[in-house]
Amino acid sequence: MKVKIKIKRFNGKDHYFDQFDVQIEDRTTVLEALMHIKDYMDNSLSFRAQCRSAICGTCAVKIGENHVLACKTKVKQFVQDGVLTVEPAGNLPVIKDLITDQDIFLLKLKDAKAWFVPSEKFEPVYPDDLKLYEKETDCILCGICYSVCPVFQTGQEFGGPINFVKIFRFWKDKNDALKDQRIVIADKNRITACVHCKYCTFSCPKEIPVEQDILQLKFFGKQKGIIKEEQEGSGGFSTPFGF
Ligand code: FES
Repeated sequence: MKVKIKIKRFNGKDHYFDQFDVQIEDRTTVLEALMHIKDYMDNSLSFRAQCRSAICGTCAVKIGENHVLACKTKVKQFVQDGVLTVEPAGNLPVIKDLITDQDIFLLKLKDAKAWFVPSEKFEPVYPDDLKLYEKETDCILCGICYSVCPVFQTGQEFGGPINFVKIFRFWKDKNDALKDQRIVIADKNRITACVHCKYCTFSCPKEIPVEQDILQLKFFGKQKGIIKEEQEGSGGFSTPFGF
């Protein structure tokens, strides 16, 4: 089948759309279509990709309202009337075409102390322990949850869903030295600004229950008196889910 692939491009000055007619098979992924365009039609097209198998997390793009990994998404999943529109991931400045500047969200991960801090005494880890943060360990830092999050549109300071996934993962690890300090960090990352739209959960290519993790962190933090009060996160923002 022939598909018109519309791509939002940026040349450092102007944003504009280019379109390319590409022959696709049922199994053709968005990344394969982009690579075909770059190899045979316009070698100036810029996008990021490495593993081509949903592991490296570099190929996040936006297709309509969907934030996806280009290598994990088939063209035919989102083609409408023979057209597929590809745009760069959201909430980040664009450097060129589909390449975004990820410095902001990577620096925010530093604020979240998104790494393991070993306790002095190591306790053995059993399968039941691992189950507590198994899904969160799958995070590939693709930034899709960051891209889809509506809180950034309200202009508030906010760590972003990815920070809370990382905080949750290490908070649940019994060998992590920071323990409930992780909740203090979640509070500093403005966890209460989350509007619980669940876009992050629905969009995560690794099916991490991001919003549930945020809820758990908030619930525990409030019970312990670490997270004080609900700040109005939405600022009047409403989601299609009505909350
Ligand atoms: S190319 Fe690695 S996740 Fe898509």
